[in-house]
Amino acid sequence: MTVHFIGAGPGAADLLTLRGRDLIAACPVCLYAGSLVPEAVLSHCPNGSKIINTAPMSLDEIIAEIKAAHDAGHDVARLHSGDLSVWSAMGEQLRRLRGLGIPYDVTPGVPSFAAGAAALGAELTLPGVVQSVVLTRTSGRATSMPPGETLENFAMTGAVLAIHLSVHMLDRVVAELTPHYGPDCPVAVIWRASWPDQRIVRATLETLETAVGAEMERTALIFVGRSLGAEDFDESRLYAGDYDRRYRPVGTDPRFPETS
Ligand SMILES: C[S@@+](CC[C@H](N)C(=O)[O-])C[C@H]1O[C@@H](n2cnc3c(N)ncnc32)[C@H](O)[C@@H]1O
Repeated sequence: MTVHFIGAGPGAADLLTLRGRDLIAACPVCLYAGSLVPEAVLSHCPNGSKIINTAPMSLDEIIAEIKAAHDAGHDVARLHSGDLSVWSAMGEQLRRLRGLGIPYDVTPGVPSFAAGAAALGAELTLPGVVQSVVLTRTSGRATSMPPGETLENFAMTGAVLAIHLSVHMLDRVVAELTPHYGPDCPVAVIWRASWPDQRIVRATLETLETAVGAEMERTALIFVGRSLGAEDFDESRLYAGDYDRRYRPVGTDPRFPETS
């Protein structure tokens, strides 16, 4: 018996890995985080499976369900939105399972920042402009930020920030980032990336609050950074005609001579 933790993706039912789909189809028990995991993903559950929405449950109750499945010899599909490596609450479940000696594995999913960038049709890391992306959030009622992980500190690097769980804190985002990025820095907010009702607002730090207005839906990502919408960036050296590389040796004395 194994508990399969599966990243269920950002919302669209077909943004699920084949491995994730097949594991869901093979498990007689499925626990899913109902606040963000789309119901359509549950259509892969086998007929007669036990399907439990964990949104209203405590950690103790969730672990009790998993332990009951384990005792009955049933595999479990445990679904969380996006990918499991960020803000999934998987860590605390794995720790409990290790304590109970219950085996598990992890199948990655499409994270919401990737779905958001796809919705924008954007490469976030453009040569000569930005080469780093910071996945971060602001502190919330349930989770405070460790000292040092402030928006201001990340802003000092000039990286693109993908700010999660924070669309209700736009005033703070603008106040903390404007001194570093400048008021004309591009910003994009994507609500429910990949869902049928996905919405995008493009603005600058200066116009962000007006552009977003009184939008109430909280499932949104805020991207801030100079690569958003940039046209003035370098082409990558990798594909430059004169760039000598292993897969395309150039010149009379290539660095990686062909051996065959
Ligand atoms: C609890 S976190 C889950 C993150 C998830 N594990 C991931 O890989 O993206 C929830 C936050 O992720 C972001 N998010 C999740 N799904 C999203 C989507 N489809 N569109 C935009 N933002 C999304 C929002 O910032 C939301 O407040």
